[in-house]
Amino acid sequence: MARLEWKQSYSVGVTALDDDHKQLIDIINQIDQAGRFGLPLDHALYDLTHYARSHFEREEDRLRAVGYPDLDSHAAEHQSFIEWLRGIERSVAATPGENRPIAEMLGTYLRNWLINHILVVDMRYRDFLS
Ligand code: FEO
Repeated sequence: MARLEWKQSYSVGVTALDDDHKQLIDIINQIDQAGRFGLPLDHALYDLTHYARSHFEREEDRLRAVGYPDLDSHAAEHQSFIEWLRGIERSVAATPGENRPIAEMLGTYLRNWLINHILVVDMRYRDFLS
């Protein structure tokens, strides 16, 4: 898949959160590379797990601090991402050597997450925070 690049139009108006989203784009590119060359996914999954924990906490703390009204439904999407990621980790552990199909599945899910969560659900708080 084509290499992803962060664009200014992806900005949610908070530098720390934009930096996190840029990190996710780096991870997607890392996963694409791993899939293309059949490389282990351990490093990318470690980064993705760290991203999910730290970014979701940072974002939810920020939204909680300003009394964002849709925090509960937003946090529920984060929780479903974490549960999906746990399933992926189990799949990787159960099917060693199957990195290519798992990397493809990861890349597709994360691109959809970028489009449907970051560019839609996250974007809803941009005006609220500004
Ligand atoms: Fe930036 Fe709601 O994740």
